[in-house]
Amino acid sequence: MEQKRGGFASSIGFIMAAVGSAVGLGNIWGFPFKMGANGGFTFLLVYLVLAVFCGFAIMVAELALGRSTGKGVIQAFGTLSGKYKWVGWLAMLSPFCLMSFYCTLGGYCAQYLVTNLSFLATSFDGSTGAELFALTLENQWSAVAATLIFLLVSFGIVKGGIAGGIEKFNKIGMPALFILLIVVIVRSLTLPGAMDGVSFMFSPGWSVANGYLEEAPSFFAVLATAGSQMFFSLSLAMGAMITYGSYLSKSENLGKNAVLIIIFDTIVALMAGLAVIPAAIATYGKSAELGGPSLLFVTLQDVFNSMGSTVGPLFGIVFYSLVIVAALSSSISLLEVLTTVIIDRQKTKGKPENRGKAALVMTIPLCITTFLVAFDGLGTIDTWQLIPSMGCWLNTFDFFAEGLLMPLGALSMSILFGWVVKPDFLVQENRAKGVAFKAAPFFVFSLKYLCPIIMLLVLLGQLNDFLGLGLY
Ligand code: PHE
Repeated sequence: MEQKRGGFASSIGFIMAAVGSAVGLGNIWGFPFKMGANGGFTFLLVYLVLAVFCGFAIMVAELALGRSTGKGVIQAFGTLSGKYKWVGWLAMLSPFCLMSFYCTLGGYCAQYLVTNLSFLATSFDGSTGAELFALTLENQWSAVAATLIFLLVSFGIVKGGIAGGIEKFNKIGMPALFILLIVVIVRSLTLPGAMDGVSFMFSPGWSVANGYLEEAPSFFAVLATAGSQMFFSLSLAMGAMITYGSYLSKSENLGKNAVLIIIFDTIVALMAGLAVIPAAIATYGKSAELGGPSLLFVTLQDVFNSMGSTVGPLFGIVFYSLVIVAALSSSISLLEVLTTVIIDRQKTKGKPENRGKAALVMTIPLCITTFLVAFDGLGTIDTWQLIPSMGCWLNTFDFFAEGLLMPLGALSMSILFGWVVKPDFLVQENRAKGVAFKAAPFFVFSLKYLCPIIMLLVLLGQLNDFLGLGLY
């Protein structure tokens, strides 16, 4: 099917956009800590094995499905058969839920950027990271405003189009992020005691032997953690790669692109680890929070505070800017998934494509859900909750996105491609315009046998973690 709609202007532009989607908060506050807590270098190996044996096939399948149909998630699955549209719905609802809290986190980063700018311009007010974070959570309206600004900026970029908005942003944003990361890594690794952080991240068993962790996780726990982190980090099963694939030229080598995306994403995750963990451990040892919001908004702010009144805020500015770029490049891919679905609908109804309106149609409900997340200050403020046991709106949306829809979507997708629709059409798509696809037998084997098993494991692991089932 020849595509008449716009698309990526260059190969490198597509790679940057896909890497931008993959590189996000997951790389910064998820991967490094999970690696340290789950066996260091061994975790990295498990992660890479899962990426090769499962992530690669799912990514290539998503890119190929998107490119062969030239459609967003719902119509892409609908094109296979009306019966499978629901898989598309899973791939649309999960980015919606993820976006609902991603914007608030992006908003918090923006607030920290402003705080560090003000520390630089005036003077450091002596508040600790914990005090600042408590204040950030308490000031609901500032959080709501920052969240909405982050959402509107994402909207603005998506409205600019694939080549004119998303590609342009990532072509500048990704190299900038890389340079900013190097600046922070150099500072982090030269702090006295930084090597303990490196050992925490890489040496198997170091975190248990040195009291950072009470006991070593079971092998099943390591597998499930690595699997879910790999899916989240590579932006799989959330429609992002299907959508970006639908804007990709037929002459692109999908397998090669998938390998590059996986390599770059893993490199950035390791770099992010070297930027944050050694600094946190060098400054605060065992009392440092090494993952999640507390790492970003408590520990690291304290690290910057301890660097002096000029250098500290400067590093704070560099660091929060790079996190904002990482978060924005992911959030625009999430909003693009939703926007493309609406653009498809406009066309089916015989209307001309109106990208701005399509993006707006999805941004309006997101204003409501992101408001909910920003307003309860991660559960510190008592407000109505859909699932009270989740504790806060962020956890509720995260449970739907990462806990349920993402693993369910990936499991259904691998069964659908492996057994129901059969992967031949995906193999053909990979060979469009005479491109060689030597990995075809491996790709088919992985989709049929490995992906369903690994996805089942990830689903169980996620349900276990979110619902506290105590399975392992
Ligand atoms: N990969 C992003 C991260 O690591 C999250 C994401 C998932 C973005 C799915 C888009 C789609 O933070």
